[in-house]
Amino acid sequence: MITPDLLTRAVETLRHGGVIALPTETVYGLAANCEDELAVRRVFAIKGRPATHPLIVHVARAEALSSWARHVPEDAWRLASAFWPGPLTLVLPRTARATDAVTGGQDTVALRVPQHPVALAVLDALGGGVAAPSANRFGRVSPTTAEHVRADLGDEVDLILDGGPCTVGVESTIVDLSSKEPAVLRPGGLAVEEIERVLGRQVPVRTSSTVRVSGSLASHYAPRAGVVLSEPADVVARVEALRAQGRSVGVLGPPSLTLPQGVPRYDVPEDPAGAARALYTRLREADLQGHDVLVACLPRAEGLGIAVRDRLARAAAPRPPGT
Ligand code: TXA
Ligand code: MG
Repeated sequence: MITPDLLTRAVETLRHGGVIALPTETVYGLAANCEDELAVRRVFAIKGRPATHPLIVHVARAEALSSWARHVPEDAWRLASAFWPGPLTLVLPRTARATDAVTGGQDTVALRVPQHPVALAVLDALGGGVAAPSANRFGRVSPTTAEHVRADLGDEVDLILDGGPCTVGVESTIVDLSSKEPAVLRPGGLAVEEIERVLGRQVPVRTSSTVRVSGSLASHYAPRAGVVLSEPADVVARVEALRAQGRSVGVLGPPSLTLPQGVPRYDVPEDPAGAARALYTRLREADLQGHDVLVACLPRAEGLGIAVRDRLARAAAPRPPGT
């Protein structure tokens, strides 16, 4: 936890239009008071994110839903009571409290109650909503430690709150409840199976929706090195083929993988939740070594493995020129 003095400083900074880095259980957020348009614009500027990509409004408790959403369906209350605080974001029709600056001009707002004592203390003391995208530059790997934020954005934020390493490690699962049928817009730190269990029906994953979810752009979460995906059984063949082309290779995968001599492995555990927790830190560590290519071993497509596979696929996607 942080000291009461630091908490006061963080809340005062937000009240006066500042931007702070805030730990959550998923990834660190770049936080501004939602109701301060200039502060929200600064968040977009620091990230280098297009202003049309909406931000998530973080609140201290589920009861706040009714002040940000003009219609809260039964499904939303059900999911909120089952999983909040937690790695779940709900998209609902907005009230006027959710401004165009936050929603990118859309008629919906994304809301979440994070499960981190520091984030909850700040939200509680502020008493309003905090817009907080992941605290990385647009398109890059999200931060899961305060050190990551310092390395990426250190000079540009007013305050970095260190809440330790994030326990979930990938962003929240986004569920759209603004139209007739619920849909997952971004798989994340809450398994889709859990959501289906509470809603009592199947919920489709629609990552290519027309809504602007930046994490759903083909190329995102990208390190500097190229990324090649591989099922566990093919990793060695992939590595050999790349080395034969004269490329320096690192592998992201579990300790159970036996690799050719001289090929470094960055440990991403086999169990899906462990893989989610380690993924971004290992991507960053591997990237610092300056490899040409990282071969990423895919976890099973179940539970949080779905989110890990999604992030790896985007890290591996062709990148726009100049990035
Ligand atoms: O775990 C998380 O969700 C982290 C932590 C900091 O809470 N935040 C995060 O924020 O991942 P960001 O901005 O990197 O991703 C939020 C995603 C974006 O892809 C955005 O497009 C989508 O949420 N989003 C926000 N408002 C939306 C809306 N009204 N409709 C659909 N998608 C929305
Ligand atoms: Mg992000």
